[in-house]
Amino acid sequence: MLTGSRSSCRGSSPDTRARPIPGTGGSPRFLEDVGGLARENNLALLNLAASLLGRGESYVEVGSFKGLSLIAAMLGNAGDFVGIDDFSLGGGNRRRLDANLRRYGLAGHTILEGDAFTLLRQGALGARRVGVYYYDAAHDYRSQMRGLRLIEPYLADDALLIVDDTDWNQVARDAGLPRGAAAGRAPRDA
Ligand SMILES: C[S@@+](CC[C@H](N)C(=O)[O-])C[C@H]1O[C@@H](n2cnc3c(N)ncnc32)[C@H](O)[C@@H]1O
Repeated sequence: MLTGSRSSCRGSSPDTRARPIPGTGGSPRFLEDVGGLARENNLALLNLAASLLGRGESYVEVGSFKGLSLIAAMLGNAGDFVGIDDFSLGGGNRRRLDANLRRYGLAGHTILEGDAFTLLRQGALGARRVGVYYYDAAHDYRSQMRGLRLIEPYLADDALLIVDDTDWNQVARDAGLPRGAAAGRAPRDA
């Protein structure tokens, strides 16, 4: 996972320890109930990141699948939330995503359906300023780079970027890094 840091963290120093995700009772059943691929620590990180959104900023994620990461980001947090998915991965679809979000009482978010790269290039985020960006779609170096480049014009000054599975060997290999060396490092041509 590759993360950017927000150095000027919204006024006085926030409590940046991972916290249980509100509304889930801290239960791993939450993961089973919704169904998805993210792990508990990733979900707690997203929830914490979204809690640090500044005024007028948005949380945007690419790869919402059945909603697990979007639900984790939204629970207990206020703000503008956007999920993007083309539902190309088997088992995920718009109906299921919407039903899962409803089940957790969540509303007011935006789902953009289609290829994320096309949508971002076409300006589908409008005038949004993105304070937290979570990329969790195709896990190869080229796609991850595209996902970062295309979100760049939308980013708030001290935005937090979270990219899943940057530590996969295929990502390291394509980035020209030694095996397993990609975790936590910015790609050289970022
Ligand atoms: C690993 S899953 C996301 C898991 C999800 N974040 C979770 O917490 O369960 C990847 C998702 O990315 C979507 N996806 C893959 N390529 C995409 C693209 N080019 N544009 C939009 N969505 C894409 C797939 O349909 C799939 O739902």
